[in-house]
Amino acid sequence: MKPVKIGIIGLGTVGCATVNILQTRGAELTARIGRSIIVSHACVRDPSKPRDCDLTGVTLLEDPSELVTHPDIDIVVELMGGTELALELSLKAIAAGKHLVTANKAIIKAIREGLAGNRIHSVAGIINGTGNFILSEMLDEGRAFAEVLGEAQQLGYAEADPTFDVEGIDAAHKLAILASIAFGIPLSFSAVYTEGIGNLTAEDVRNAEKLGYRIKHLGIAEHNSQGVSLRVHPTLIPRSQLLANVHGVMNAVQVQSDAVGESLYYGAGAGGGPTGSAVVADIIDIARSLETRPDQRVALLGIRHDALKEVPLLPIDAIESAYYLRMQATDQPGVMAEVTGILGKMGISIEAIEQTEPMQHDTQATIIMLTHRVIEEHMIKVIRQLEALDTIMGAITLIRVEHFNTRQSA
Ligand code: HSE
Repeated sequence: MKPVKIGIIGLGTVGCATVNILQTRGAELTARIGRSIIVSHACVRDPSKPRDCDLTGVTLLEDPSELVTHPDIDIVVELMGGTELALELSLKAIAAGKHLVTANKAIIKAIREGLAGNRIHSVAGIINGTGNFILSEMLDEGRAFAEVLGEAQQLGYAEADPTFDVEGIDAAHKLAILASIAFGIPLSFSAVYTEGIGNLTAEDVRNAEKLGYRIKHLGIAEHNSQGVSLRVHPTLIPRSQLLANVHGVMNAVQVQSDAVGESLYYGAGAGGGPTGSAVVADIIDIARSLETRPDQRVALLGIRHDALKEVPLLPIDAIESAYYLRMQATDQPGVMAEVTGILGKMGISIEAIEQTEPMQHDTQATIIMLTHRVIEEHMIKVIRQLEALDTIMGAITLIRVEHFNTRQSA
């Protein structure tokens, strides 16, 4: 059979890793697919830049529009990043009848295909390698934010615009895709509530540790009887949880489904090798299905596009969660009773509460507490009431707390 010809736009970390995998695994891939895969064309912004891949036999084009419409190319692989031009070229490729692959995640295949017979209730996990790497290095090794981010960029983990990693936007993109596959709903990026890691303090990390928790930046998608909630934010999780022990650039996604129960998918989530291998997995899917009737191929989002369900997308104040609160209070009798009284009136029970001794000559004390689960709207009302007290100084820090069921054995 004729070889499948690939045209790649962008030969950065992921592009070169994709070329390397296709070249070094060429014979195995041909045996698996029944035809060979050749990178025939590529398009780069600066052809004189040295690259970590062998481009012998690859025709370099200057104009990406020429690549996406080139008659010799079967599959266009878009790895240039960004939005406007990348979208324009992708649409042009599709209009020209090309198959299209863009940088994607291996975890998605496991959920799309491995759990096809299940009804999924929730998907929660660490889905940005850069953010997790920064958190691990800062919190465990005490390194400075800018230095760790620079290292993540050098290692090829970070997005071209690293604020996408730090502010949780990349995680929100991935959560929208995971939720679409898990629940069979349309892609809903704009419904994802997003908080980054920029406001986390060493004090909260230390407090969490003392209470037996670790702070991780999680993406959480839940389907309950009211609808679907989608959120990305720092979260306290018990140290005994598997997710609390995912460090560095590793990603892990915990899925709660009816037939399998809990399952956890773990692996490297950023960098050339992991991302390149996910791109190659998609190229293989397409190469295999080139001879298959379109209606018999694996649907991209796990179900056919015309079968996607519209479900209510819930705002963040409708979620139910436990909370970690930190507040500064004047050190005088009755403050603690006043604080706990306000929570009690709203029916919020407290799991743990602690007041630190004020420093010598200081008139303020820090109150730390963990609450049981409550609807977020009620918790926000309580926080507004507490912040209005004369005895509470400044804004109250709130971090959500999740207790998952999967425990680490031993
Ligand atoms: N910047 C992304 C991350 C790369 O750190 O997870 C993989 O999508």
